[in-house]
Amino acid sequence: MAQFTLPKNSKMSEGRTWPRPANGNRTQAFRIYRWNPDDGATPRIDTYHVDRDDCGPMVLDALIWIKNKVDPTLTFRRSCREGICGSCSMNIMGENTLACTLGMDDCRAETIKIYPLPHMPVIKDLVPDLTGFFAAHSAIEPWLQTETPAPETEWQQTPQERSKLDGLYECILCACCTTSCPSYWWNGDRFLGPAALLQAYRWLIDSRDEATGERLDALHDPFRLYRCHTIMNCANACPKGLNPAKAIAEIKKMMIARQV
Ligand code: SF4
Ligand code: SF4
Ligand code: FES
Repeated sequence: MAQFTLPKNSKMSEGRTWPRPANGNRTQAFRIYRWNPDDGATPRIDTYHVDRDDCGPMVLDALIWIKNKVDPTLTFRRSCREGICGSCSMNIMGENTLACTLGMDDCRAETIKIYPLPHMPVIKDLVPDLTGFFAAHSAIEPWLQTETPAPETEWQQTPQERSKLDGLYECILCACCTTSCPSYWWNGDRFLGPAALLQAYRWLIDSRDEATGERLDALHDPFRLYRCHTIMNCANACPKGLNPAKAIAEIKKMMIARQV
């Protein structure tokens, strides 16, 4: 009979329940994924209680409160605290999102459950290894490429040309979309994923860029582009309201247009 084994560290155990705040009349419970590569233990889920009267309103405020007042070993990324840097992306109540722009009240949950972004290797606790994600971004060569010598002042665009970048340039590379994409889960080594492809389209339709043919050649591959099956998880996951699936569809249209 076939024997199936679960991957290493895929079994989670019950972790520690940390003491409730001494003076907290209004508390919010959290269940948070913990894993330390140095202790040899399997991942666990720790329980915390945050004093809402001593803490800001966002989920990231609660994580910082826990780290400062309860458990300094809790590890997560954050920087801007206002939805700009893309560092604090994690899976909260089953959805990939930014901890700094999600209010505790918006979770509408007695207990808020937090895990790292799914289907990525974990470095520690809520910190995923995004090496592959940024390698895909690098692969689309996200910079202006021109044959024309650089002008003495700036490269100019009409307002209409500039407006084509709306809905694309706002991407903060948080990886919420790519880590919610089933095609990326199964083929992350070869499919570029929605974030990188949204950026690829951003450069393809930039009126100043002169490498459109080369960019399309690089994407013309059964895996890099065409593993997108329009499942739309990416558009649902994006905390900035962007639509990578639409950008991918536009790239496919450009591929067809240059063949006719
Ligand atoms: S639309 Fe494409 S890129 Fe977006 S989640 Fe679905 S398969 Fe992934
Ligand atoms: S498209 Fe949205 S979800 Fe994807 S990386 Fe950019 S900001 Fe994040
Ligand atoms: S801390 Fe920068 S996006 Fe959340």
